[in-house]
Amino acid sequence: MSTEISLSDRIFWIGVNDRQTALFEELWPIPDGIAYNSYMILDDKVAIIDAVKDISMDRYLEKIRRLLGERRHVDYLIINHIEPDHSGGIKILREAYPDMEIVGNKKTLELLAHFYGITHNVRMVNDYDTLELGSCRLKFFLTPMVHWPETMMTYEETRKLLFSGDAFGGFGSLDNGIFDDEIRDLQSYEDEMLRYFTNVIAKYSVMVQKAISKIKDLDIAIVASTHGPVWRTRPRHAIDLYDRWSRQEAEEGFVIVYASMYGNTEKMMEAIGHALAAEKPGIIRIHNVSRSHASYIIADIWRYRAVIVGSPAYNMGLFPLMDHLLRLIENKGLKDRLIGLFGSYGWSGGAMKELTDFVGRMKWQLIEPAIEVKGSPTEEDLRKCRLLGSNMAQRLRT
Ligand SMILES: Cc1cc2nc3c(=O)[nH]c(=O)nc-3n(C[C@H](O)[C@H](O)[C@H](O)COP(=O)(O)O)c2cc1C
Ligand SMILES: [Fe+2]
Ligand SMILES: [Fe+2]
Repeated sequence: MSTEISLSDRIFWIGVNDRQTALFEELWPIPDGIAYNSYMILDDKVAIIDAVKDISMDRYLEKIRRLLGERRHVDYLIINHIEPDHSGGIKILREAYPDMEIVGNKKTLELLAHFYGITHNVRMVNDYDTLELGSCRLKFFLTPMVHWPETMMTYEETRKLLFSGDAFGGFGSLDNGIFDDEIRDLQSYEDEMLRYFTNVIAKYSVMVQKAISKIKDLDIAIVASTHGPVWRTRPRHAIDLYDRWSRQEAEEGFVIVYASMYGNTEKMMEAIGHALAAEKPGIIRIHNVSRSHASYIIADIWRYRAVIVGSPAYNMGLFPLMDHLLRLIENKGLKDRLIGLFGSYGWSGGAMKELTDFVGRMKWQLIEPAIEVKGSPTEEDLRKCRLLGSNMAQRLRT
């Protein structure tokens, strides 16, 4: 990719694509990679906004050098978010440009000291402070817990760019252009934005809502986040997606998520799925927890209004991967979903109690009947499964 990608006059993208990391945060698969977006403003003063993970540093520094040309000097590094996917390269960057002042809020500077031992040549900014670069003027908006306590956004007032940190970001390296209008399969990036949002950011939905209302009156021409496309044609669209997801609004549709070692719970899932499909209620997504990575299941459960969960009993409790999935969902605090329950057991059970407890803790609405079958489902059991499917479908219609 060319090094000279400009967002506006004097403002450039100098990000790095990561196609090596298999799991983001060592948890979430990123089959299409991820971009660490970094930006550079070449004005009377030179500022870099957000750095990158400590990969491809030679290429990153080369981009900076080329853009600087004869100037050889960077005045500021603005840290919107100090998670190491945006700061791992800081020490190397500091070595290359020792005079570069590092700009962050009080919390950023604390973390900078603890993570990197950097305490000198730093500048603390407060909420709504500004920094003149020449023709560009930056204004800082503190947006804590989107996604760490120090996160903030930087707004360039004259060209109306919002450097939003992780907010409005997504998985996926930027392979065919970086702008929303250049990317042809934008829908797949939006799907990966949802998976990024739900798995990485969504626990802080309330803080995302606060951040969005804080910037709501800004005139925004470009949304430049730290991951994923730069939105210059439809900047509001990126904000609207995060707004909807962080309000936890659901689309009409169903997710059936199940586990099955020997096929008994699977038979029940099929009966439920057929009954649902017969009622044509909308999208039906089916996930086997042993085959779909939890991150994809969580993204679907976030998107759709109803979920039907099935697990066999396993060592007096839930099937382990189902247990893992439900813990992740509980940790994220997803609200207001419809849920149905089913499963099979061999002797004293254990899974259904855990499923029921989960529903109680989540305060989701349980749709009857919950079906617990000893061994293989009988015709009568399968009839109940179909009843659960049609009850769910009808509930969604109302
Ligand atoms: C490793 C293992 C552990 C199990 N633990 C329990 C248990 O603690 N309590 C129980 O009632 N059944 C237990 N079962 C029996 C299963 O829940 C039962 O066979 C069920 O029908 C399996 O459903 P499936 O065919 O969908 O995998 C266990 C089965 C296996 C293979
Ligand atoms: Fe982050
Ligand atoms: Fe990030």
